[in-house]
Amino acid sequence: MKLENYLSELNTLIEQEENASQALQQICSKIQKDLDHYDWVGFYFMNHHSKKLHLGPYAGKATDHTIINFGSGICGQVALSGETYLSEDVSAEENYIACSIEVKSEIVVPLYLNEVLIGQIDIDSNTTGAFGKDDDIFLKALNKKLAQRYGEDLKMIVSF
Ligand code: SME
Repeated sequence: MKLENYLSELNTLIEQEENASQALQQICSKIQKDLDHYDWVGFYFMNHHSKKLHLGPYAGKATDHTIINFGSGICGQVALSGETYLSEDVSAEENYIACSIEVKSEIVVPLYLNEVLIGQIDIDSNTTGAFGKDDDIFLKALNKKLAQRYGEDLKMIVSF
């Protein structure tokens, strides 16, 4: 399935669901089920005061890493850079937090609200080199849509 076409399916879901938290949960579950190379899907939100990321809705195996310091692992690096991080082979990463030994590649895409970095979507794959530019484009468009639709409600999903 082309990610571009798939996005319009998600847009329909987003338009129909009024509750931000439920929308994110449905999206995590849906894309983890529909997209073969998406084995774990989750949203982290940023606490700019404590400089920590907090896990919000996710789909896949439960993780111990529900709170991550800015700068730690791939997620923590994106919290500082505000740019997508695509790792084709996580075993080659020097600054990486392993959630499961099965994970081979990962992409983390920032989530902006009104040009302020508020969170990120994190996808793990059990296949090496699973992600490419199309995933980055798809996930950026998804995050943009979520920011447009839910606005400040996104910041209430996780209480710090
Ligand atoms: N691998 C991430 C940690 C989050 S888990 O993948 C759920 C990282 O290095 O930041």
